Amino acid sequence: VVRTAVTGVGSYLPPHIVTNEELSKTVDTSDEWIIERTGIRQRHKAADDQPTSDLAVEAALRALADAGKTAADVDLIIVATTTPDNTFPATAAIVQKKLGAPVGIAFDVQAVCSGFVYAMSVADGFVARGHSKCALVIGAEEMTRLMDWEDRTTCVLFGDGAGAFVLEPREGQGTKDDQGLLGFALRCDGSKTDLLYVDGGPSTTGTVGHLRMTGNQVFRHAVVNISEAIVAATEAASIAIPDVDWFVPHQANARIIRGVGERLGLDENRVISTVDLHANTSAASIPLAMDTAIKDGRIKRGDLVVIEAMGGGLTWGACAFRL
Ligand code: ACO
Repeated sequence: VVRTAVTGVGSYLPPHIVTNEELSKTVDTSDEWIIERTGIRQRHKAADDQPTSDLAVEAALRALADAGKTAADVDLIIVATTTPDNTFPATAAIVQKKLGAPVGIAFDVQAVCSGFVYAMSVADGFVARGHSKCALVIGAEEMTRLMDWEDRTTCVLFGDGAGAFVLEPREGQGTKDDQGLLGFALRCDGSKTDLLYVDGGPSTTGTVGHLRMTGNQVFRHAVVNISEAIVAATEAASIAIPDVDWFVPHQANARIIRGVGERLGLDENRVISTVDLHANTSAASIPLAMDTAIKDGRIKRGDLVVIEAMGGGLTWGACAFRL
């Protein structure tokens, strides 16, 4: 059987860091409140002239180098983003141009914070069926562009960044020991669009809009939904939760990550957390966290990994793979 294998991982954070202390000078908040309620200490912010595609390209180049590939090899680019450079073309098309990659398949996936997990499942369809030999799946976001900087309940939570995986086909035996993607669970409950949305768009207000969220309700759904998706994805992969070496969650809030861990009885030493340094980078947070944990020597080739996320929609999902 042909499996879709993760053969390279890379990430990029814009250099400018905004601390909680700095935010507390412009909105009524404090370093203490933000750390206690979210675990966030700082976030990165893109420069004014640095669009999402620039972050995506940096992450993609690092992932390609990690895989021993170049832009010339890339035949599929999927960018998971909710903050595209333009309404169209897709940010993936701009990334293809900036990378100098050849004519191939390129498009965006919009599932907000779950975008990276959704994009991985879409890419799997191309790679495992022989339509792509070298795919880039990129999560790239500039959530700071969507903030209402007067709303302390949201503006402290988000940051900018990008992460990328290179995916290539690998022969497997059809068992859980194969390198590559083993199982998915994806969900959307559109009855809950009101809990987390941006109040603008081309066909409504004609503006970009600002992020609006009923945080405590999103929180409640997050723990339950993510836990359910992890169980479903591990079942789809024919693995048990104790088999999993690493959980790489979407980084929204340290309390959500802990809540899922407690609900499923996960060993906290097996759960990667970067929310303190990155804040919530939406679709970029999983590949950013993954790259961090590979670079610091925790996640190694051959490890069984589960990635999971929830975001606006509400969308949520999980994916199990062997690195
Ligand atoms: N600084 C100080 N006080 C604040 C701040 C702030 N930045 N933000 C809110 N407060 C106040 C509120 O106004 C409220 O005050 P009140 O009691 O006087 O009305 C009080 O803190 C408590 O507000 P809650 O919303 O009940 O606080 P909660 O403990 O739920 O924490 C938070 C809020 C951090 C947003 C939490 O609900 C959360 O993390 N929710 C998940 C949302 C999330 O991460 N979404 C990201 C996208 S979806 C995803 O990625 C999973």
